[in-house]
Amino acid sequence: MTLCQVTIDGPAASGKSTVAKLVAQRLGGHYINTGDMYRTVACAVLRRGGDPRNQTEEIAEVLPTLDLGYVLDEGGSLVLMLNGEPVKQEEIRTAEVAAVVSYVARIPAVRYWLRARQRKTVELGTIVMEGRDIGTVILPNASNKFFMTASPEERARRRFAQPGEVPAGATLASVAAEIAERDQMDMNRPVSPLRPAEDAVLIDTDGLTPEQVADRIVDRVEGRA
Ligand code: CDP
Repeated sequence: MTLCQVTIDGPAASGKSTVAKLVAQRLGGHYINTGDMYRTVACAVLRRGGDPRNQTEEIAEVLPTLDLGYVLDEGGSLVLMLNGEPVKQEEIRTAEVAAVVSYVARIPAVRYWLRARQRKTVELGTIVMEGRDIGTVILPNASNKFFMTASPEERARRRFAQPGEVPAGATLASVAAEIAERDQMDMNRPVSPLRPAEDAVLIDTDGLTPEQVADRIVDRVEGRA
């Protein structure tokens, strides 16, 4: 089988993770979630008691204390490890982390530090990597690039349905506002802003199931569409 690099970028809660996992399974490749890497750095900063919203230099100082990267476990599954321990989804996918992660992600030193760790995963073989700047900056020569979108209402509904990721007492409107704020920061930062690569295929996922979106991507990757 030919090795390929599939990039899936898009705004918050556009359904990238569900689709990227399905695509990786179907292609027999590894799934890399770069958002988890940014969330893990944000979580480490929060643990030190800092407020990532106004601490650019302190955050850069945290980086050398972190040993972060994707590692293959004994069963052949890819696991994100921080300082020798697997990163737990319930710790990084919280409302507290969501509130600060885009502040951490706009810091050039953080992006540069993670870039090397993200690029290293191409050594694993076929990969499906999701994020915000994968097609534009991390893997500009990737064979297949996609940019997933969905309407703000649909994205708010999807995020609202994910328990644990929204604060207690959240409403659909408050979730929509949090997502919109994060997207604004991600689109308007000077370094590696969220945008489609020129050669990315745009997929509007409104009204499509994750399986239908994955079908479109796999058909394209395998040359049927
Ligand atoms: O899952 P969700 O769509 O909420 O977001 P995520 O993929 O977990 O990413 C969390 C945050 O990390 C984003 O809002 C960005 O601020 C940042 N991020 C980034 O800047 N670049 C990436 N390649 C991936 C995530």
